[in-house]
Amino acid sequence: MENNQRIELPQHLLDEVQRVISLFPEGKQKSALLRVLHIAQAHFGWLSVDVMDYVARLLHIQPIEVYEVATFYSMYDTQQVGKVKLEVCRTGPCMIEGAENIVNYIEKKLGIKDGETTADGMFTLKTVECLGACGYAPMLQAGEKFHEHLTEEKVDALIEAYRSNPVANYMGENQNG
Ligand code: FES
Repeated sequence: MENNQRIELPQHLLDEVQRVISLFPEGKQKSALLRVLHIAQAHFGWLSVDVMDYVARLLHIQPIEVYEVATFYSMYDTQQVGKVKLEVCRTGPCMIEGAENIVNYIEKKLGIKDGETTADGMFTLKTVECLGACGYAPMLQAGEKFHEHLTEEKVDALIEAYRSNPVANYMGENQNG
């Protein structure tokens, strides 16, 4: 997590940022933004305004250009999230198969609403658009893992499993750097 530490990526990640930027023509470094946001989010834990401003400086673009992208895609977190982020698909096919009930059940079980984090900082519930597993509806994503054909019993089991063994929210990098 960010914890007000100095906002700076370690050298190996700065090298990776430069490598990604170099994939695009000169002056088109903004094209690296999605990947650089992933790198920053995985390292800092979420995308605070300070982190987004830092990304803007890395890419020599305006902060608003970073905010626009970071707030558009649900894969980016502009609010601090818990150790485990439960992203429940809320698009048509999942809704038809009971996603709303699953969301309600998780809200009740964890005592939080969509977008909120439990008081112990363990779980964040987030509803998101189609995650490409429509044939396995209803489903949710936690870190790199998909949980499919959800039932209340499956939700109970996965929450208990994650409580004792949290999964990384983001791919690739150690969040604590
Ligand atoms: S509609 Fe839920 S994964 Fe596609």
